[in-house]
Amino acid sequence: MAKVKVKTGYVCSDCGATYPKWQGHCSACDAWSTIKEVRLGAEPRAGRRDGFAGATSTVTLLGEVSCTEEARFSSGSEEFDRVLGGGFVPGSVILIGGDPGAGKSTILLQTMCHAAASKEVLYVSGEESLQQIAGRARRLQLPLDRVKMLAESSVERVLEAAQSERPEVVVIDSIQVMQSAGIDAAPGGVSQVRESAAAFTCYAKTSGVVLIMVGHVTKDQSLAGPMTLSHMVDTQVMLSSTEDARYRLMRTTKNRFGPVNELGVFAMTERGLREVKNPSAIFLSRTENAAPGSLISVLWEGTRPLLVEIQSLVVSAQYGSPRRLGIGLDQNRIAMILAVITKHGGLVLSDQDVFVNVVGGIRVLETSADLAVALAIVSSFRNTVLPQDLLVFGEVGLSGEIRPVSNGESRLKEGVKHGFTRAIVPKGNAPKKEIAGMKVVGVNSLAEALDAI
Ligand code: TYD
Ligand code: MG
Repeated sequence: MAKVKVKTGYVCSDCGATYPKWQGHCSACDAWSTIKEVRLGAEPRAGRRDGFAGATSTVTLLGEVSCTEEARFSSGSEEFDRVLGGGFVPGSVILIGGDPGAGKSTILLQTMCHAAASKEVLYVSGEESLQQIAGRARRLQLPLDRVKMLAESSVERVLEAAQSERPEVVVIDSIQVMQSAGIDAAPGGVSQVRESAAAFTCYAKTSGVVLIMVGHVTKDQSLAGPMTLSHMVDTQVMLSSTEDARYRLMRTTKNRFGPVNELGVFAMTERGLREVKNPSAIFLSRTENAAPGSLISVLWEGTRPLLVEIQSLVVSAQYGSPRRLGIGLDQNRIAMILAVITKHGGLVLSDQDVFVNVVGGIRVLETSADLAVALAIVSSFRNTVLPQDLLVFGEVGLSGEIRPVSNGESRLKEGVKHGFTRAIVPKGNAPKKEIAGMKVVGVNSLAEALDAI
């Protein structure tokens, strides 16, 4: 890391880029008004780190670096393990981000109480008092006799305690309240957060401890937090709430030890967070009477399928230019699908307002719901009801072709499990061998799909 001589500097609170003087635009991450003046550690202090991973100063051949493949261990929660790619990797640094109230402290308290049965755990809380935490743990009936707690916000004192207690997992709740004595700035500021996180990261890398840091994100996703930190950590997990606040979705956005976009689902109950083992069942609350514009699709979330209901409403535009609104879907994707419907489906929607909603507050991040969105829109426009036991997935291309998506067969099997008996899918995804209980229609184009409904 370059040694900075100046006493103050200008740092982008999103990406952490430094500038010698203030400017409105961060040329590193293209954000506006994120550059703030901060105090930087002036002179290098004794024992200063040279990198997050602890310095080694000799050039070594990669093949000669000794490494023992250390086994992952369970976090104490199956869903959390899956999101991490199979549990904790010793020496890794995990950042858990999310809005206040997302349930970060709750999930960590729950998993740590269980993980403590087999591992040494140190839970550092800088936000809540130990009484508060103990009260919550008792109310949630968690096993509390083995978790070591520390209410502290000084980085140096936390590291001191860690040196003497020798834990295998350390939780820092949260990194925004941590303060390093060497930095003369308020906690939560860019330089404090960055310096504290660097100290903890270095500790984890050199000691082999699993370090979990909690990071807050404000509504505008700013705060001296996650963006600056994401470069340092191995795994970044975001915890978010569904729109009705009943469920919590956990997703990795960066993972050096596993796949990203694995989805973990929890239900927030009065007894804390409960794992949802079969998420399809909760996002699939179908009403008795089928309505036009409603259709079920299968998403692929990390390593498993997820059934979701897509709803569409097409109504004559009252005034001005027609509205196209998507909840849980990318607006541009809807505009593209509408254009394909117009061009290749022969429907005129230019004077119609189009609303598309993914039921249950889940966000669709892949293209496999395209065909379901297209058919839902057509179904609402024509005011015709689609069969309740019909499953649809596939990507829609600009020339009206229907492209295959990954894991077609597993998606169909998930449908069978939930009582679906027919499916419209891309030809490339139609199974070679018939799936018992499911009549599959493979289509090459949007026109073929429209003929099939
Ligand atoms: P918390 O873990 O304190 O959030 P964070 O640390 O991410 O800020 O969770 C607080 C929310 O969870 C709060 O809105 C209330 C809710 N909650 C329950 O509904 N049931 C429970 O048993 C607990 C502990 C929390
Ligand atoms: Mg908290």
